[in-house]
Amino acid sequence: MEIFALENNFQLADGNAIPALGFGTFGIFDRLHQENIIADAIACGYRHFDTASLYGSEISVGLGIKSSGIAREEFFLTTKVWKDDMESSRIRSSLESSLKKLQTDYVDLLLIHWPRCNSADAQWIEHLNEAFETFILLKKEGKVKSIGVSNFLVHHFEALKTAERPVVNQIEYHPGYMQQEVVDYCKKENIVVEAWSPLGRAALLTDKTVLKIAAKHKVSAAQVLLKFCLENGVLPIAKSTDIKRMQQNASLMHFMLDANDLQELSDIKQNTGWSQEHPDFAIPSARVGDF
Ligand SMILES: NC(=O)c1ccc[n+]([C@@H]2O[C@H](COP(=O)([O-])OP(=O)(O)OC[C@H]3O[C@@H](n4cnc5c(N)ncnc54)[C@H](OP(=O)(O)O)[C@@H]3O)[C@@H](O)[C@H]2O)c1
Repeated sequence: MEIFALENNFQLADGNAIPALGFGTFGIFDRLHQENIIADAIACGYRHFDTASLYGSEISVGLGIKSSGIAREEFFLTTKVWKDDMESSRIRSSLESSLKKLQTDYVDLLLIHWPRCNSADAQWIEHLNEAFETFILLKKEGKVKSIGVSNFLVHHFEALKTAERPVVNQIEYHPGYMQQEVVDYCKKENIVVEAWSPLGRAALLTDKTVLKIAAKHKVSAAQVLLKFCLENGVLPIAKSTDIKRMQQNASLMHFMLDANDLQELSDIKQNTGWSQEHPDFAIPSARVGDF
C-alpha cells in the first residue's frame, strides 16, 4: 500500500524528481518563529520547501538548511518570481536576491507566481513569453534546475509559445476547488500539478464529509485532504507551524482512500474553502505583512 510519503518523488518531464510532499512557508512573518518552524520541519523529515520572493521566508529557509548540517543537494527548493517582476532584468534580480537569501547558487524549481500582473494588463501575453524565455536561459546557466508556473489556467498555457514547456503548475487545489479542466490539461501535457492550500487554508478541516471519512480511517481531516491530493496525482504543499501537525501531515502511508471516499470528496460543493483568488479577475496584490 506504499503511496507517497516524504521519501517518494514525482517525476518531472525534464527528468528531475521532486519530493511528493512539499512544506509551505507562506504567512509566517516573525523571523525567529520562522527559523524554528523550518528547523522543526527539517527534523520531521521535510526536504521540499516552497517559498517565493513575496513570502519573506527565504532567509529562514536558507538559515534552516545551513544550520541543519544536511547537504544542500538533499533539499528541493522552490521559489517564485512575483507578478510585478516579469521583465527579464527584474526576473534576474529577483532570482539573484532569492539565491542570496537562500544561501545557495541554484534553486531546484523556479515558478512564475501569477500569469499576469493585473486584470488591466493588455500586454500580459508578451510579458509571459518574455518571462518564460528568461527562465529557459536561467536554466541553461545552471541557476535553476527546473522551470514552471503557478496559477495558470488552460488559456495561459496556450498563450505561452516558448519551445521549452513548464514542468509544474502550482494551483489552489482541494476538494472544494478542484479546477478539473486545468488539472486534466496538465496531466495530458505531462505537467506536475502542485496543490497550494490543500487544506483550503484550514476551511475544509471542519467539512462534514471530510470529517466522516477521517473518522472512517481513524486519521485527521488534514491527512484525508493531503491523501486526496496524492491519490489524484497532485503534489500537496502543506504548511503548519506546529511540529505535531507537521508530523501528522507527513504520516500518510498507513491508509488509503477508496473510490467511494474520493467520489464523496469530489462531490463537495465547489468553491467551498476557495481563497477567492483568480488569475484573471481576482489577482492578489501584496498583502499586509508581505515583504
Ligand atoms: N502559488 C501561490 O499562489 C500560493 C498561494 C497560497 C499558498 N501557496 C503555498 O501553499 C502553501 C500552503 O497553503 P496555505 O498555507 O495557504 O494553506 P493550507 O496548507 O491549506 O492550510 C494551512 C492552515 O492549516 C493549518 N493546518 C496545517 N496542518 C494542520 C493539521 N494537521 N491539523 C489542523 N490544522 C492544520 C495551519 O495551521 P497551523 O500552522 O497552526 O498548523 C494553517 O492554518 C503556502 O504556505 C505556500 O507555500 C502558494
